[in-house]
Amino acid sequence: MRKNIVAGNWKMNLSIAEASNLVETIIDAAPALRENHVVVFCTPFTHLQTIAKIIDSKGHSQFALGAQNCNDQIAGAFTGEISVNMLKEMGVTYVIIGHSERRQLFGESSDFLKKKVDTLIAANMQILFCCGEPLEIRNAGEQNQYVQKQLSDSLFHLDAAQMKNHITIAYEPIWAIGTGVTASTQQAQDMHAHIRHVLSETYDSQLAADISILYGGSCNAQNAEDLFANEDVDGGLIGGAALKSETFLPIISAMH
Ligand code: 13P
Repeated sequence: MRKNIVAGNWKMNLSIAEASNLVETIIDAAPALRENHVVVFCTPFTHLQTIAKIIDSKGHSQFALGAQNCNDQIAGAFTGEISVNMLKEMGVTYVIIGHSERRQLFGESSDFLKKKVDTLIAANMQILFCCGEPLEIRNAGEQNQYVQKQLSDSLFHLDAAQMKNHITIAYEPIWAIGTGVTASTQQAQDMHAHIRHVLSETYDSQLAADISILYGGSCNAQNAEDLFANEDVDGGLIGGAALKSETFLPIISAMH
């Protein structure tokens, strides 16, 4: 059975004190999670150690620590970068790769993302791999081909076992990120079904059924339940609504 995952991507927000308070409150107040449910906190690097300790102290194995980025190299002269071993040492198990902000604002190419994916898999990490089209591609009706190319350029060199054991896909249409404009439940379901179809064609139907596909982009306490009710939507990657317990807890509760 594939996992249902709600991951909070805090981006460059929250002090360590605010973040600690948030995680304590969320874990204490979270509903009982099913065996296949996972909640991930993707914190800034400077917060990882503190949040890892809080997660450990609560003793709930379904809450996990995530990072928002990782370099493709193991060590060396890469000023300002962070390595997979540094993240592992902090207790990180999930890493976001290919977020549209990294692609657009920091010029990360598909080839660079592919190298990061390989480095993370070699280190036995879980990858939240983001894909999603800009508005002009959606308006031109070319979103399916666009997303398919993002996946094939950075992921489809992997073998089936690597895909199944390490990859979660997060579909985040760029026009929905931080805009308050959410993809309709139909738009989300259509793209997720397309991604699953592509996985089935590239690998096989069992692998396609086993991979979790999350939705991200203005997902909030009001719309999470409808979005997650779609057959092919297995949870969410949440930005703004992950920064407060009042808005994040209902999203956790919306996992089916
Ligand atoms: P928002 O939920 O703030 O739209 O952000 C989505 C996102 O980019 C998560 O990675």
